[in-house]
Amino acid sequence: MHIDTIAVQALRGHEHGAVVPPIHLASTFELDPADNSGAYDYQRGANPTRAALETVLAALDGARFGFAFASGMAATSAVFSRLTAGDEVILPAGVYGGTYRFVDKFFEARGLHARFVPDLGTLTDADFTERTALVFVETPANPTLRITDLRRIADLAHAHGAIVAVDNTFMSPVLQTPLALGADIVVQSATKYLAGHSDLLGGTVTTDDEEIAASLALAQKALGGVLSPFDSYRLIQDIKTLPLRLERQQANAVALAEHLRDHEAIGRVLVPGSHDAHEAAVHASQASGPGAVLSFELGEGIDRIAFLRALRIPVYAVSLGSVETLVCHPATMTHEAMTPAARAAAGISDELLRLSVGIENLQDLREDLDQALAAARRPRTAAEATAEIPVHV
Ligand SMILES: Cc1ncc(COP(=O)(O)O)c(C=O)c1O
Repeated sequence: MHIDTIAVQALRGHEHGAVVPPIHLASTFELDPADNSGAYDYQRGANPTRAALETVLAALDGARFGFAFASGMAATSAVFSRLTAGDEVILPAGVYGGTYRFVDKFFEARGLHARFVPDLGTLTDADFTERTALVFVETPANPTLRITDLRRIADLAHAHGAIVAVDNTFMSPVLQTPLALGADIVVQSATKYLAGHSDLLGGTVTTDDEEIAASLALAQKALGGVLSPFDSYRLIQDIKTLPLRLERQQANAVALAEHLRDHEAIGRVLVPGSHDAHEAAVHASQASGPGAVLSFELGEGIDRIAFLRALRIPVYAVSLGSVETLVCHPATMTHEAMTPAARAAAGISDELLRLSVGIENLQDLREDLDQALAAARRPRTAAEATAEIPVHV
């Protein structure tokens, strides 16, 4: 079955044939006094509504096991909770700012090592030691949209006894299924495309590996950052329209990237594959589309604050993946936790803006960007004006 069918039908035949699943709010369940057995015992460990969502999550990723958490960071923390003192994790320098914050604030005191590399594409055997336990990948990377070859990283890591976790938030299972490319774990912030309406915080993890699944179930039970039954129900419903939403968002994003690329008031436009032909080929081989996030730099003479204030449709806010178009300034928002040097190493300039394209009308979006760019043009200084006077010889 195709993903748009799975998104709608994954729970077919579930509980009494109800076409939407019930919300089980019980925090505790009656047990058999003989052996304390029962289908469920306590909500933190498992709950029928969360279990229904986890069935959908696994089906979308073609995985054996799915897990739902209270946020994307709770999901990432659950993955990191399997590490033990002495382990080393390799991450891209431009990893999501919240993941960077976790590594920066929690690793050292717990005897964990992190190695940030500017470009995972340059990893070789020499980068692995016997301590390397995990490679954490984001492709496309945020907000530079750089691409990592997942098959290559999985082969490399596995050859050294390490596992690979992929943060697939930017693509969602509609566009990329990393487990099929050799990854061991897929993490997503469900807050983004899966939920899609800027009204739910959640995280997901999927895997095919039984031992990893056991560590994630333990993380749910022991750390407790699980998704509530109510939000699990809402996510099941939101996921049904994910393929449709993303199709429209992606079409809008492709057209806007083209429009901005041709615009004289815009500098660089970054999309998956724009870095070079190799990355374009890798992305085409492992994902079925570019997604709906793009980044761009304003050209000379355009005032950033004035541009952002003049926009009428894109909302200046962190986050992405929702039906409304959002714009953010990574250097002071999503990647603010990084040092200026770390941002520079990751290619995140102070001029870079990130656009998460929504489902609004394309013409309205184009016209709005154009009017904001026109409104934000700084008056030329006397020196600039003089410099532009043509010199006739
Ligand atoms: C790529 C990526 N991963 C993880 C997260 C963390 O997710 P959450 O905000 O749901 O905790 C985010 C949030 O912005 C993200 O963009």
